[in-house]
Amino acid sequence: MYKASELIDLINSHLSGLSFDRFPKELYAPIEYVLSMGGKRIRPVLMMLAYNLYQADVTKILNQATGIEVYHNYTLLHDDLMDRADMRRGKATVHKVWDANIAILSGDAMLVLAEQMMADCESIHYKEIINLFNLTALEICEGQQMDMNFEQRNDVSENEYIEMIRLKTAVLLSTALKIGALLGNASCEDAGNLYQFGINIGLAFQLQDDLLDVYGDSSIFGKNIGGDILCNKKTYLLIKALNIASDTEKEELNGWLEAKSCQPQEKISGVTSLFNRLGVRDFCEKKMQNYYTEAFTYINKVGVAEELKCELKGFVEHLIGRVS
Ligand code: IPE
Ligand code: IPE
Ligand code: MG
Ligand code: MG
Ligand code: MG
Repeated sequence: MYKASELIDLINSHLSGLSFDRFPKELYAPIEYVLSMGGKRIRPVLMMLAYNLYQADVTKILNQATGIEVYHNYTLLHDDLMDRADMRRGKATVHKVWDANIAILSGDAMLVLAEQMMADCESIHYKEIINLFNLTALEICEGQQMDMNFEQRNDVSENEYIEMIRLKTAVLLSTALKIGALLGNASCEDAGNLYQFGINIGLAFQLQDDLLDVYGDSSIFGKNIGGDILCNKKTYLLIKALNIASDTEKEELNGWLEAKSCQPQEKISGVTSLFNRLGVRDFCEKKMQNYYTEAFTYINKVGVAEELKCELKGFVEHLIGRVS
């Protein structure tokens, strides 16, 4: 059995060994930049831990594990452009170091590279893996579009929010787990339970990300605090706040949402203090905890010996306390 920390080392050394010896360099330099600036490597680790429930040698799926990380990093390049985000993993984002066109095109190239890595698997698995990966990639676009549509709306329901984060975030974690299981020749039932495990972890993970965007420490979180507030993102915190606010509090909140010319820091402080008054952080933490608890009901159904699941369970438990 591999430890998660060993898998992170494995994926990092594989990523740093990738050589982009093609031209023009302007296309590949941002790719090297983003892949070398760290990140938690959650998706490849989940994939390899799922595979490791069934097979011993995880190095056999390094291509797919690397592919899903490259894919994830591609989504970040485009997401940062869409979200007007200047900082990621403590460094300037690609569209800041270079420009928007470079972030778009290098991102496109990363999507293709990810597809190539994913496709480099045994032929018996090829069709299923590629179909799942492509469906997931499409779902993520759908979730990202919903996320952008919601910026313009103030009547987004909790259910709509959950569906949006299922699509933009959760399906990638669940697909990482399912691909690991399928490559490891797991039963259909196990692969399905690992997928549901991933969906619930993913929902909790995005709730936590929204929370850290307001309450995190920027030097650890690696992103600017308050970015979601500035974009009028319909996070769980904001949706809950709009639902429980009194008429005067709602007016104040709507004032910030509609403010055209205010200082960014003022808006962040104003909205955060409303969140604090309404106690929405607690609601968000409880919801997050519920999804993590629900997640474990699915891993418990997976038909392998309990001791084999320890590392995967431990890795997810560790995620619950994440601060970055
Ligand atoms: C960021 O993902 C995007 C979200 C789904 C919230 P991560 O928090 O996994 O980012 P890195 O890869 O560790 O930087
Ligand atoms: C992440 O949503 C979803 C994807 C990148 C597909 P966020 O926009 O919340 O992610 P961060 O906070 O920028 O990492
Ligand atoms: Mg973003
Ligand atoms: Mg986003
Ligand atoms: Mg976020």
